Amino acid sequence: MKIGILSDIHVDINYSRGDRVTPALIGEVAARELDVLILPGDISSDYTLSASVIHTLRRETGIPCLFVPGNHDIWTEKHPSLDSWTIYRRLEEIEGNLASGPVTLSDRWAVVGDLGWYDFAFGDPKFSKEDFEAMAYGGREWQDHLYARWNRPTLEMHRYFLDKLSTWLDSLKGKNIILVTHVIPVEKFTVGSDHSQAQMWKYFNAFLGSPSYGHLAEAHPSVKVSLSGHVHYRKQFRRKGVLYICNCLGYSTEWDGTENPYEEIPKALITLDTDLLERS
Ligand SMILES: [Fe+2]
Repeated sequence: MKIGILSDIHVDINYSRGDRVTPALIGEVAARELDVLILPGDISSDYTLSASVIHTLRRETGIPCLFVPGNHDIWTEKHPSLDSWTIYRRLEEIEGNLASGPVTLSDRWAVVGDLGWYDFAFGDPKFSKEDFEAMAYGGREWQDHLYARWNRPTLEMHRYFLDKLSTWLDSLKGKNIILVTHVIPVEKFTVGSDHSQAQMWKYFNAFLGSPSYGHLAEAHPSVKVSLSGHVHYRKQFRRKGVLYICNCLGYSTEWDGTENPYEEIPKALITLDTDLLERS
């Protein structure tokens, strides 16, 4: 089974002369003859647009399009009268949303996922919990502070997602599992000292995810792959039996030498072959 993986497609931010990201992705899915597409979040910053993109992808590719919401997808910026819970629940009604429950791909493979949240653990410990709760540093504000309106403490949100994923993993026996979160599960995917604004990221890494999701994956031998997005990297490595993949399309301003989705998406989309995984 061939699974396409691409996170953070941000069709609204990447909108230039129309949405060319969605049709470029549909074309690449067809060219590769994929069986399933998995999007680990940040389809757009407007849940109604995200829902319509998923619908179009499913209709035009004819294959299951599985996704988890990203932090942008649950933002209230475009819907100020709603809170993020309302948006999250409305997205649960969209076919393919892993937040509604695990999806069986075959007699041997299943996919489990949800947004996940952060617990500040990837931030530099020189900052306090109160520093991180302020979500602002060096004159910059983390935008979840404005638009991710859960009306619950940050650490409680992280616990909510971790408990939900943990319960699902415990309930699934006898299948290989692909675990999907929008947030990153391992420190290796945080922004490192080679970044031009590394000092600032010592603070903002706090909002990228939690090592608890990696520990959760590694505590379940059935989890063979962990997919994430959020940080706009394209990286992968293997640790303790888990293949960690963070694979983002990201913003066109971050692409190398092109602003054309028809050039960038073939480079960015990863194909995961479950037959090859079972042999590795
Ligand atoms: Fe993103």
